[in-house]
Amino acid sequence: MYRIIVATLFAILLISFLFPPYACVMFSQKGGRLQEKFYDLITQSLREEVKSRILDIGSGNGVLAVKLAQQYGGVQVVGIDYWGKDWEYSKKVCEKNAQAANVENRVHFQKGDAAALDFANDTFDGAISNLTFHEVKSVADKKLVLQAAL
Ligand SMILES: C[S@@+](CC[C@H](N)C(=O)[O-])C[C@H]1O[C@@H](n2cnc3c(N)ncnc32)[C@H](O)[C@@H]1O
Repeated sequence: MYRIIVATLFAILLISFLFPPYACVMFSQKGGRLQEKFYDLITQSLREEVKSRILDIGSGNGVLAVKLAQQYGGVQVVGIDYWGKDWEYSKKVCEKNAQAANVENRVHFQKGDAAALDFANDTFDGAISNLTFHEVKSVADKKLVLQAAL
């Protein structure tokens, strides 16, 4: 019995140590490219009729917004983020990324709260977001964040 408990604890400890580097490799460009695959899944799932004016909620460093603009020539993207202290993301880096990809005339970024979007209804044809809704802390009920996007 003692051996089983020790072996189980050892296995848990080993997994706890190995999982973070494994996750890093899986998300990295040279590894499993998981992050890249999420972005592709999002951009490719947009229907034809919602490809003219898109809101990206929680842009981070603007990678998804930029990617969308690169993939669809006519699309205008607005990316919002609160760019708080919890993350090393910024509006400045978003704008630099848009410039580097030559889409700065079609991708714009502004500070905003995902739970209180500062746009009139029908401003956008669609909204996209990656790994953001669970991070929003400005409201307790996450359904309100989804409702704002809808
Ligand atoms: C995991 S990052 C994802 C960033 C980006 N979507 C990406 O794919 O790289 C979560 C983002 O949500 C943003 N965020 C968190 N709470 C927010 C809020 N209340 N309003 C707007 N953005 C928020 C953070 O600033 C951060 O950029």
